[in-house]
Parts: sequence; C-alpha cells; structure tokens
Amino acid sequence: MKASAIIVAAGSGTRLGFEVPKAFVDLAGRSLLSYSLRTIAAVAAIEEAVIALPAGMDSRARADIRAAGLEIPVKLTQGGAERQDSVRIALELTSSEAELVVVHDAARPFATPTMFEAALASAARSGGAIVAAPLADTLKRVDIDDDDGAGDRAHARIIVATVARAGLWQAQTPQAFRRDLLIRAHRRAVLEGIAATDDAHLVELLGAKVEIVEGSALNFKITTAADLHLAELAVTSHLKP
Ligand code: CTP
Ligand code: MG
Repeated sequence: MKASAIIVAAGSGTRLGFEVPKAFVDLAGRSLLSYSLRTIAAVAAIEEAVIALPAGMDSRARADIRAAGLEIPVKLTQGGAERQDSVRIALELTSSEAELVVVHDAARPFATPTMFEAALASAARSGGAIVAAPLADTLKRVDIDDDDGAGDRAHARIIVATVARAGLWQAQTPQAFRRDLLIRAHRRAVLEGIAATDDAHLVELLGAKVEIVEGSALNFKITTAADLHLAELAVTSHLKP
C-alpha cells in the first residue's frame, strides 16, 4: 500500500521559548526534525514526504533530509497559521497515487518505524488509525475560585470534579488515514469552520471509524523546556519506546 508522510514542522515553539523554530532546536547534536526524518526513512511503505516548515527554513530542512539519508521524493512547503492549516496545505501537495497518508508532528522525536507501520496497517484496514497511550494519572476538572478574597493576587484553583479515567487515551502522532478520507475531513472543516488539534478529530466528525494503536509514554511531544531536558536524557541514555 503506497503511503505519503506529512511532517508538520511549521510551528514557532512559543512555549519552548527559543529563538529558532522548534523543529530546528538542537536535541543531542541534531535538529528535532531530523529524528522524524530518520524514522520515516526506515518505513518501506512511505514513498513520499511533504514537510510543512516555517518561512525561510528550506535550506536547513534540505540539509537535514540529506543527513537523514531520506531518499524518497520530498516536497517542502510553508505551513499555515495553525497546525490544522499546515496539515491541509501539505495534504493538498501529496501525490494522488498515495492510498494512505500518515501525519506526524516534528515535535515528537521518539516515534518509531513500528508505530508508523502499525498505524498504516490499521488505516489500510479500517480507514484511520492513530498512535495513542492510555492515561496514567487521575484527572481533575478545575475552576478558578472568584470568591477567595485574593484581590489582585492569583485566584485559587479548585477541583470541581474528578473525571473518570477509564477509557481515556492521549492522542499522539503518527496518525494514518486513507488519503481521500483525510482530504474530505479537512475540506469539510474549512467549509464549516471547524478547528481541531489533531487530524483524527476531523475524521471522527465525518462519522468515520478511527482505530487506536498503542504507543508509548516515550513518544511524548516536546512542548516546554522541561520536555526538552527529558528528551536529552532519553537520547543520551538510549531509552527505547
Ligand atoms: N505546527 C505546524 N504549523 C503550525 C503550528 C504547529 O506545522 N502553525 C506543528 C509544530 O511544528 C509541531 C506540531 O505542529 O511539530 C505540534 O504543535 P505544537 O507542539 O503546538 O508546536 P508549536 O506550535 O511550534 O509550539 P507552541 O504551540 O508552543 O508555539
Ligand atoms: Mg502550537
């Protein structure tokens, strides 16, 4: 089954707070993006890649692509204002010969070839599949206490409910779909003004089935400086998801 990979790397990394866009931040000697490039290079079903980038980063991305030994055709494009826009722009550039598309965040350096292969195999069967991990922590719904007499100080945060954890999973990437299904999902989102933080949500809204493939806590997203520290430790101690 032919597949195209989309890597979304166009975010600025505001919460990480570096000068350089997040995908080009150094993690143990190479860019965050380069980890995902090496991973997709090891997935035989992926025959093409489209990478959404921040403005002005094409030559750095080309250097990373060469260093990763990625020998499939790669298209580079500038991303959009939100992640969903970056995926949609990249999706329109994927080859119509691809039956499947797999979307991955450059901010997740530890996804494995096996995760990509499992998501693609499930999507080939059922239309869509995402890598996800079961929740481990107890969940609290929290509200701000306006009546705590804090004045100008920060108001206290108060638990209003404990959310039942059973059946809750954290969505990760890669997320794989039949290409025609994902295109339909994104076009409908534009028409109806729907904003979602992952691609599966848009496909779910079409009423289509999306399967879960069990991921790993080590496939975490680098969002904050603390995440980057943990990632450095994971690389230097050779942890494997
Ligand atoms: N992304 C993108 N285009 C955007 C926003 C995000 O391609 N307009 C990508 C990021 O590059 C990242 C992934 O989507 O690989 C997940 O987004 P996130 O972790 O939120 O990254 P940033 O948006 O860069 O970070 P922040 O929200 O802290 O600015
Ligand atoms: Mg963001």
